[in-house]
Parts: sequence; C-alpha cells; structure tokens
Amino acid sequence: MTAIFTVPVVLAERSYEIIIQAGLLEGLGRKLKNQGVSGKVGIVTDRHVARHYLKDCLEAIKRHGINPVPIILTPGERSKTLKTVEHILDVLARHRFERSSMLLALGGGVVGDMAGFAASIYQRGIPYIQVPTTLVAQVDSSVGGKTGIDHRLGKNLIGSFYQPRAVWVDPLALHTLPNRELVAGFAEVIKYGIIVDKSFFAYLQRHMSELRKQVPGIVATVVKRSCEIKAEVVAADERESDRRRILNYGHTIGHALEALGGYKSFVHGEAVGIGLVQEAELAYFQGICSRRVVEEIRRIVKEAGLSDRMPQWTSQRIWKAMLHDKKVSGGRIIGVWPERIGQVRIGPIEKRVFEQWHSALRVFPHGHA
Ligand SMILES: NC(=O)c1ccc[n+]([C@@H]2O[C@H](COP(=O)([O-])OP(=O)(O)OC[C@H]3O[C@@H](n4cnc5c(N)ncnc54)[C@H](O)[C@@H]3O)[C@@H](O)[C@H]2O)c1
Ligand SMILES: [Zn+2]
Repeated sequence: MTAIFTVPVVLAERSYEIIIQAGLLEGLGRKLKNQGVSGKVGIVTDRHVARHYLKDCLEAIKRHGINPVPIILTPGERSKTLKTVEHILDVLARHRFERSSMLLALGGGVVGDMAGFAASIYQRGIPYIQVPTTLVAQVDSSVGGKTGIDHRLGKNLIGSFYQPRAVWVDPLALHTLPNRELVAGFAEVIKYGIIVDKSFFAYLQRHMSELRKQVPGIVATVVKRSCEIKAEVVAADERESDRRRILNYGHTIGHALEALGGYKSFVHGEAVGIGLVQEAELAYFQGICSRRVVEEIRRIVKEAGLSDRMPQWTSQRIWKAMLHDKKVSGGRIIGVWPERIGQVRIGPIEKRVFEQWHSALRVFPHGHA
C-alpha cells in the first residue's frame, strides 16, 4: 500500500483537495468516476508528457466508460499563447463540450495554466482537474488557481483566477522528467522552507541527496508539505495582496534574470535559485538577517544542484528589469526579506541601496554555472 496524502485547499465554496499518491495515474478512470464524471473529458497535455503517459491514461479512463478527448499541445513556454488556447477551445466546441463536461490538465505548468484558462472561459466556465507532472507544477503552479497565457509584451499578462475541482499528484510521474526541470523545482521547495517553515527547511537539509535521487517517501513528503504551505498562504489571501506576496521571495531578482536572459538562459527555477541566495545577501546588506542565514540558504541551493551566482549584468539593467515586473506598483520595488529561516518580512528597497550592494558584489558571466 502506498501512502495517500490529502491536502485541503480551503476557499469557501470553491474548496477542493490535493491528493498525492504514488501510482495515482493508473487509477485515473476510477477517480474521475468518483468525481461524478460520466460523459466526456478533455485531456489537455503536451507531446512530451503524451509520449510517456497518454496511452495508459486513456485506457484507464475508457475502462470506466468515460470518453476521453485528447488535446495534445506543443511543449514549452513559447506555446503558452492565446492561439494555443484558441485551439483548445476549438476542440471543445467541435466535440460539443457542455457546461458539465470536464477538462483535465495532464502536464507541467504550461499545460496547467492554459487548460485552466480555457476551462475558465469556455461557456463562461467548465470544471477542470489538475494532474501536474513536473515538480514545479506539483508544488506550485497547480495550487492557487492562477491560470493564463503569455503576451508578447509580458509573461502571464493575460489570465484569470479559476480554481480546479481537484489536484491529483502522482510523484512517480517525475521519474521521466529531465533532471534540469527537476532541479528547477527544488528552488520553489526551498523557498517554502525559508518563508514559513524552519523544520521543513531542516528536513530538506537532511534529505536533499535522497530527494535528488527521488527516493519515493521523501518526494511525496516534500510535495505534500510544499502544497500545504502554498495552500495555506493562498487560502489566507486568494487574490494576492499582502500575505501572498511572501511567495515572491527569490522572484524579484529571479524574474529580472529570467527576462534579461531572454527566457532562454535560465529556466524559471534556476533564476529563482539565484534569487533566493542574492535576495538573502541583500537582506544581510540591509541588516535584516545574519550572515549565517545567507550561508545556510546558499548551501542548500547549491546542494540542490542550482547556481547561487549573480550573472554579470549591470545594476542599472537589473534594476530596470525588476521595475518591469508586474508585481511592482507605483514604481516601488517591494521585496521579501528573510529575517531568519522560516520568517520573512516584506518591505521596499531603494535604488541607491540596491546599487551600493551590487557594486560590492562579485558577478559571473551569465548562463548557468
Ligand atoms: N499558475 C501559477 O501559479 C504558476 C506558478 C508557477 C509557474 N507557473 C507557470 O508554469 C510554467 C512552468 O511550468 P513547468 O516548469 O512545469 O514547465 P513546463 O510545463 O514547460 O514543463 C517543462 C518540460 O517538462 C516536460 N514534462 C512535463 N512533465 C513531464 C514528465 N513527467 N516527464 C517528462 N517530461 C515532462 C514538458 O513537456 C516541458 O518540456 C510557466 O509558464 C509559469 O509561468 C504558473
Ligand atoms: Zn516561481
């Protein structure tokens, strides 16, 4: 018997459960049936995920008398566009999906964000279920109800808040994930420890090498605790004002690096990994935390296989890229600063302080170290 973890996401009438279970994908048909699905279900996925899992999933679903309609997308951030969502909507319309039909997002954050967005606008909203298959999606993007697409003028510029009916996580799906994508997911996991949970951070310190080898119980525990933390923060503040801001730790610098690298030099988590360390450095520079906090964060980021090194862009360019972030309001950059492991504070940073800090910094040629 494999352990089943259930994490409630408490959002009044839109509450739902995250279920984490190794081998869950094999029982997809029964789970859909128990969810009350009887007719059609649209399976939105991408080519990479389809190659590994689609055939088995379709069979598992058909066995329970449900009619799956696969919608296979081109993998990658570049296909996270309105055009792709239009394609999903076309298929739904052609197959005469109704208000009561269900969509299932089988894939990483790109698939999940687009399937959720399509579900939120088709006939003004049909139910959907997230079945995340990357670590980033399992611990982050599938939880919280943010859906959307990129616009040529900005990442995630168009979208909606739309909660799924359920999130079903199979940690075994991570076995086929490219190592670079797995490691990128560790940045978000480490972030959760730093922002709210010292003992989770200590757990990660103890088990990082097992986590990297995907020892089953360890992965499920880490996914569960990460989902709990994200769910708690989101439940406290569904529409992203103050509390939800803490999830942005590592992302002020992280997003800037991603943008400066043209979204090619780094995958998201790699940029966030650098952000976790460098924002701790900035907190230290401002007298918010001790040297020890910075070094603990640096050590675990490196042990996870992530880089801690600031690439060599000028402070002006980094500042400008940080100002472009859509979380900035009124031209002020509000950062998230660790006071100690497990506790952060939110506060503005002045350009002058950032420049002073940056001029004392050792920087490295960009690309990952
Ligand atoms: N909605 C949110 O709150 C939220 C939060 C964080 C990130 N995001 C979004 O998520 C996206 C990033 O998600 P991601 O990191 O999952 O990227 P992704 O969806 O692009 O997946 C990464 C790669 O892994 C492949 N893949 C997925 N699962 C696999 C598996 N099990 N085996 C083999 N290959 C597999 C994909 O085809 C893709 O090539 C971004 O668009 C980001 O904006 C959204
Ligand atoms: Zn992130």
